Formats: sequence, structure tokens, C-alpha cells
Amino acid sequence: MALERLRLDGQVAIITGAGRGVGRGIATVFAEAGATIVCSARTRTEIDETVAMIEAAGGKAVAVTADVMKKADLDALVATTMERFGRIDIVVNNAGGIVYRPFLEISEEEFRFHFDWNTTSSFLLSQAAAPHMLKAGRGSIINISSGAGHLGIRGMLSYCVAKGATEQLTRALAQELAPKIRVNCLALGAIMTPALQQTFDMQEGYRDKLEALTPLKTVGTPEDIGMAALYLCSEGCYATSAIYHIDGGLQDTNLPFRLPDL
Ligand SMILES: NC(=O)c1ccc[n+]([C@@H]2O[C@H](COP(=O)([O-])OP(=O)(O)OC[C@H]3O[C@@H](n4cnc5c(N)ncnc54)[C@H](O)[C@@H]3O)[C@@H](O)[C@H]2O)c1
Repeated sequence: MALERLRLDGQVAIITGAGRGVGRGIATVFAEAGATIVCSARTRTEIDETVAMIEAAGGKAVAVTADVMKKADLDALVATTMERFGRIDIVVNNAGGIVYRPFLEISEEEFRFHFDWNTTSSFLLSQAAAPHMLKAGRGSIINISSGAGHLGIRGMLSYCVAKGATEQLTRALAQELAPKIRVNCLALGAIMTPALQQTFDMQEGYRDKLEALTPLKTVGTPEDIGMAALYLCSEGCYATSAIYHIDGGLQDTNLPFRLPDL
């Protein structure tokens, strides 16, 4: 019975940034649990690939191109999902990312860009989808944060601020949407994705040092995040307004190379 509660048969999940990395990991786990996945991202070829992987494994998915920086795209993503499937049960606000930059070199434009990419996007998609979920009387929204959402880390100030706001968006939105819609957040540590690989490629030995500084001594996988997200969508899940740290046990940053004092 307990495992049955993890089944998502008949449910429809919108996942942003589903073309690779964490978003693809969540999409494949949810599809295995029986959900129909609306895989969204900017790059069509990548979401087509995710859809093909899901279909090859016997799951159901469609690709819908959308840039989370554009409200019109997010509105169209919700409208297309409703036209095709008539319901939205789950929204995963996953698309986002980081640009490393020391504080004194961050332009106003870049600061605002990070906020919009990581936080305003989650606000806008949640606002577009929530009326349909409220009408159905149920739903689950999952936001994706980072250790940077609650730790201060040199070289990523605008990302720290944006992900901190993502966590507050989660708490405040959960209060507004309870009891019908649950809103939770996964705060990730280092997860093996193309974005993390780019960071590893910047300096030799980075991965080894980062893993040595991580209590569980390894990076996580996109599937690990899919499993945590699945619990948050499970039948009768008693969590809302919560931030779950899926990060290998971090109490401090595990980034091995830090910027010098100003
Ligand atoms: N990988 C990690 O170690 C890590 C750690 C903490 C938090 N996170 C968070 O997890 C999320 C996913 O990260 P990832 O490592 O999988 O990244 P990734 O770069 O590997 O994949 C990101 C996905 O999002 C899509 N995307 C990016 N910008 C978009 C936009 N404007 N509109 C629509 N789609 C867009 C990309 O096309 C891609 O499909 C991000 O929010 C990131 O901040 C990742």
C-alpha cells in the first residue's frame, strides 16, 4: 500500500528545464511512476531527447518549448497543457542556474537576470498553473533551490539571493495555496549534471576536492532528486511549505576554490 501512494498514474506534470540534468532526472522518475510529463525547456532537441527516453521506457511525455524568462511562454505552456490533457497536477520549477562573479563585478542587469531566471520564473509559472489546480482541488508545486539558498558563498552572490528568495517564495506561496495545493522546495547540493560538469571542467581536481568536503563523499544524481520530488507528490503527502536539503549532508559550502579577501 505504501508504495502505491507513490504512483502518479493519470496525473500530468509540467517540468521546466527538462532537457537535461536535474529536470530530466525528475521527468524520468515521474514518468516511471505513471505520470504524463510535459517536458519544457528552451532547447527543442534536448526536450525531444528526454521525451524519446521516456517513451522508450514505456512512459508518456510531450515536449513544449518555453523560455522561463518570458511570461508569455509560461502562460502558453500552461494553456497548451490544459488544451492537450485538461489537467495539471504537478509543476516543477526547475529551470535556473548560476554565473560565477565576484560581488564588485556583478552588474545590475546580471543581478536582475539571476533573480528572474531562478525566482520570478517560478512565481510566474505557479501563478499561471494554480487556478487550474485550485479548480481541481489539488496539486503539488515543487521549487528547486540550492545550498546557495541558505549558505552565503563567495563568488555567487546573485545566485545566493535568488535561491534564498525561491525558498521564501515556497514558504509564502504554501500558506496562500493551502490546503488544496502543496508547495515544497528541494535545496540541492552538487548534482551530477551538464551544468556541474562545466564547473568541474574549470579547474583540475575540482570534483575530488568537492567530494572530499561533502559529508557523504560523493555528488548526487538527477535520479536522487527525482526520488525526493516523487515523495513530495505522493498521495496524502503531509508536507507543505517545507525546504528539503538533498545535498549529501552540507553544513557549509563544499566548493573547494574560494575567492580571496577583497
Ligand atoms: N547541478 C547542481 O549541482 C545543482 C545544485 C544546486 C541547484 N541546482 C539547480 O537545479 C536546477 C537544474 O540545474 P542543472 O544542473 O540540471 O542545470 P543544467 O544546465 O544541466 O540543465 C538546465 C535545464 O534548464 C533549461 N533552461 C535553462 N534556462 C532556461 C530558460 N531560460 N528557460 C527554459 N529552460 C531553461 C536548460 O535547457 C536545461 O534543460 C537549477 O535551478 C539549478 O540552480 C543544481
